[in-house]
Amino acid sequence: MPWEKGEASPGLVDFLAAHPELPRGTVLVPGCGTGHDVLVFASHGFTVTGMDLAPSAVKLSKEKTAAAGLKADFTLGNFLVDEPFQSFDYVFEHTLFCAIDPPMRDDYVKAVLRWLKPAGTYLAVNYLIPDTDGPPFGTTRDEQIQRFTPHFHLQEDWVPRSYPNRTGLECMFWWKGKAGRR
Ligand SMILES: C[S@@+](CC[C@H](N)C(=O)[O-])C[C@H]1O[C@@H](n2cnc3c(N)ncnc32)[C@H](O)[C@@H]1O
Repeated sequence: MPWEKGEASPGLVDFLAAHPELPRGTVLVPGCGTGHDVLVFASHGFTVTGMDLAPSAVKLSKEKTAAAGLKADFTLGNFLVDEPFQSFDYVFEHTLFCAIDPPMRDDYVKAVLRWLKPAGTYLAVNYLIPDTDGPPFGTTRDEQIQRFTPHFHLQEDWVPRSYPNRTGLECMFWWKGKAGRR
């Protein structure tokens, strides 16, 4: 699994360290892989749920969480089609958008809206590569702005610290839901 880096997204690590004021709410990490990002949220006191299509990912995530002495929930599920079992204060994206087939991107946006509370926070580490023969399939800053601006206020976007082979290729977006959106 070339996406398995053995550690959480450096951008997420830096973001949570820089924002201790964030309310410790509920977080969904769809496409959580082996759970590195879930554990960072858990270590900062969030109530976090990781979701993945792959039973092996859920199993590894649970083992890693127990070994770290942290608490997090993991569920086997399809973020794009499942009906939410709860609404979350935060959804965190990291290499799920680029893993799905580009024709499914409208469904991805609908899924974010379905799983998130109306005024919730969507935090994303997007992979800005030109590849169209993925996965991973690249995106652009313009595409992210176009897809999410109708539903969210952009708080900030920036180029985060990344894994060595992704340096300068990621963009983080911090979106806040427009309360009352449908
Ligand atoms: C590229 S990996 C990234 C894993 C993790 N986010 C990371 O960066 O280490 C994408 C993950 O998303 C999962 N996935 C793909 N489509 C999904 C879906 N519709 N619902 C839930 N998980 C999905 C895959 O099984 C895989 O674990």
